Amino acid sequence: MHRLEEIWMTLSIGLLVIFMVVIGFQTFAMGMGPPSHKETIDPQKVSQTAPFDDPGVKKMGENEYEVVMILQSFQFTPSDIELPVGAEVTFTMASPDVSHGFQVAGTNINAMVMPGHIQKITHTFNEPGEFLVLCNEYCGIGHQMMSTTITVQ
Ligand code: CUA
Repeated sequence: MHRLEEIWMTLSIGLLVIFMVVIGFQTFAMGMGPPSHKETIDPQKVSQTAPFDDPGVKKMGENEYEVVMILQSFQFTPSDIELPVGAEVTFTMASPDVSHGFQVAGTNINAMVMPGHIQKITHTFNEPGEFLVLCNEYCGIGHQMMSTTITVQ
């Protein structure tokens, strides 16, 4: 093999290794990887499948809540959610029909809820207030009316 070929091969493989190390470090050590909840659900049976057979706000621990939510055309169930300030809240979401969005204005919560997949997102509300919840995926004729609120107090 040519001397120059060897140099270029070593350089390109070295670059690949450096990129993989950087991406691996960001993903695993810094938690910057994409969300990877791989749980699936039969969209036809969302309302019969636990925990979605009993949607609502659940207290899970000292300062920990879970909101089990169904997003369907064109509503959030439960709606008008109330949560205490400072609680760590996990939203566990599923859709029985089409893709919906779950965006909470004034926070960095922004998730897509696709039929067939369980979506989870965790957030701590450190400030009291009324937060507008919007569907930001076009889901049909009533899409622009699909909204609710989260009241943190
Ligand atoms: Cu649901 Cu747009």
